Amino acid sequence: MTKALQASAIAPANIAFIKYWGRKDAQLRLPANDSISMNLGGIETKTSVKFSPDLQQDTLTINGEPASSKERSRVSRFLDTIRNLSEFKYFASVDSHNNFPKGTGIASSASGFAALTVAATAALGLEFSERELSQLARLGSGSACRSIPDGFVEWKTANLHQDSYAYSLFPADHWDIVDVIAIVDAKEKKYSSSQGHEAAVKSPFFAARQEYLVSQTARLKDALERKDFSTFGECLEQETINFQSVIMTSQPAIYYWNPTTMAIILFVQQLREQGLAVYFSIDAGPNVHLIVEQKNVETLKRELGKIEGIAQLMVAPPAPGARVVSN
Ligand code: PMV
Repeated sequence: MTKALQASAIAPANIAFIKYWGRKDAQLRLPANDSISMNLGGIETKTSVKFSPDLQQDTLTINGEPASSKERSRVSRFLDTIRNLSEFKYFASVDSHNNFPKGTGIASSASGFAALTVAATAALGLEFSERELSQLARLGSGSACRSIPDGFVEWKTANLHQDSYAYSLFPADHWDIVDVIAIVDAKEKKYSSSQGHEAAVKSPFFAARQEYLVSQTARLKDALERKDFSTFGECLEQETINFQSVIMTSQPAIYYWNPTTMAIILFVQQLREQGLAVYFSIDAGPNVHLIVEQKNVETLKRELGKIEGIAQLMVAPPAPGARVVSN
C-alpha cells in the first residue's frame, strides 16, 4: 500500500495597515501597490491536507461542512499549481477550520490559503523557503502571502511572479499593540474582494491613490518602526478612508459599511477627545478593527459596550506566521 502523504498547518488572518486593492495582473495576483499588515493572534485557520492515490477528486470541507463547488474548484486549481511542483499527482482531501466567521471582512482567504500552502507543500515533502511559500500563497489569495511571515509584514508589488512576496518587517513582539475587532455583521458580503479589485481600477481616484501611497506607506512604516502610536494611528485612518473612497467610487460602486460601522467611526473620534488613544481600520466589509495599545484593551472593550449593533468583539495581538503542526 502506498503511504498517504499528509500534513497540517495553522495560519493567522492578518489586518492590512496599508491595503492591497487593485491588481496589475489578476491571474498572478500581482498587486497594484505595496501593502503592510499585522498577523492576528488567535484568529486562525487550521488546515489538514491528505494526498492519496485512492481519491478520485479533490475534496474540501470548511468547518466540517462540504464546501461549495466554487470554493472547491478554487482550491483544486491552487492544488494543481502545487502538484505541478511535485512528483506526486494524487488528489487531496482538505479539511479546513476557521475560528472566526466567514466572509466578514476578516480575511478568511488569507489564513485559509496560507495554511493550505504550508500544509500541502509539507504533505508532498516540498522544502520551500519562506519566500517561496509566500509567492505560492499569493497565487491562492493575494493577502495570503502576508500570513506566511511573522509579526508585522510587508508585501512588495512587482511585475514578475518570483519578485512579489511578503517578508517580516518586525517580529510579533516588536510592539504590544492589539487589534480589537468589532463584528457588526457576520453575513457573507455581496461583493467578494476579487470583484472589488476589478472594480477599483475604474475609480477616478485610483491613480491618485497610487501616488498617495508612495509617501503614506513610508510614513506608516517609519511610525511602526519608531513605535510612534499617534503618528501610526493617524496614518492608519487616513489610509483606511483613502481606500474606502476608492471602493465607494469604483464601478460598480461598493458599499461595505452598515450604520454601526459609521457609529463606531464617530465613537472612536469621541474616545480620542476623551483621551483614549484608539484608531480604526476597515477592510472590505462592515467590521471595524480598532487598534489600541495593550494597556488600553479593557477600557476600550468597556466603552464599546455602549454602542448598539456590535455582535461580538475579538481581540488579537500580533502573531507569528504560518507553521506546520502535528495532525
Ligand atoms: O486577498 P484578497 O483578494 O482577499 O484581498 C484582500 C483585500 C483587503 O483585505 C481589503 C485588503 C488587504 O490588503 O488585506
